[in-house]
Amino acid sequence: MYTTTVVCWAFMLVGVLNQQPASPAGASTSLDYEVFKTKIQPILLAKRPGHARCVACHSQGTPLRLQPLSPGSTTWNEEQSRKNFEVMKRVAVPATMRARLLVHPLAEAAGGDFYHNGGKHFNSQNDPEWQTLKAWVMGSTPKSD
Ligand code: HEC
Repeated sequence: MYTTTVVCWAFMLVGVLNQQPASPAGASTSLDYEVFKTKIQPILLAKRPGHARCVACHSQGTPLRLQPLSPGSTTWNEEQSRKNFEVMKRVAVPATMRARLLVHPLAEAAGGDFYHNGGKHFNSQNDPEWQTLKAWVMGSTPKSD
C-alpha cells in the first residue's frame, strides 16, 4: 500500500517535471511588448459609446494604474508605455482566459465576470477589440509585418 503511494507520487513528480519545458513561466508564453504598444494601448485609449475610456479611470484611483497622458498628448510615449506594460502584466496572465483583462470588461452573458466598476465594454467575445486583447494574452497575435 505504502509502496504504491510512493510510486504514484514519483510518477506524478516526473509528470510535473516533464511538463516544465513545455510551459516555462514567462518564456514562450510571455506577453509581447510591441503588440501591447501598437494594438492594446489604442484600446485603452479608445472611446466607446456609453463608456468612459479605460484610461480615464485607470490613470487615477484604481488599483490598475496606467500612466496619465502628458498634457497635449493623445497617446503614451515610450517610457510611459513601458510602465503601462509592467502594470498590465498583473491582469494579463499569459495564455489564460481567466486573465482579469479579459473577463473584467466582458459582459457576464458573454463569459465575463460578474462586475466591473468601469462597466462592461464588450458584449461579445466576437468583439474585434476584445479579440485583440485575447490574442495578446494568449500570445497569438498575428504578425502583420
Ligand atoms: C468608469 C471608470 C472605469 C472605466 C472606464 C474602466 N474601468 Fe476598469 N476598473 C475600474 C475600477 C473602479 C476598478 C476596481 C473595482 C473593480 O474591480 O470593479 C476596475 C478594475 C479593473 C480591472 C481589475 C484590476 C485589478 O487590479 O485587478 C481590470 C483588468 C480593468 N478594470 C480593466 C479595464 C479595461 C480594459 C477598461 C476599458 C475597456 C476599463 N477597465 C475601464 C474603473 C473603470
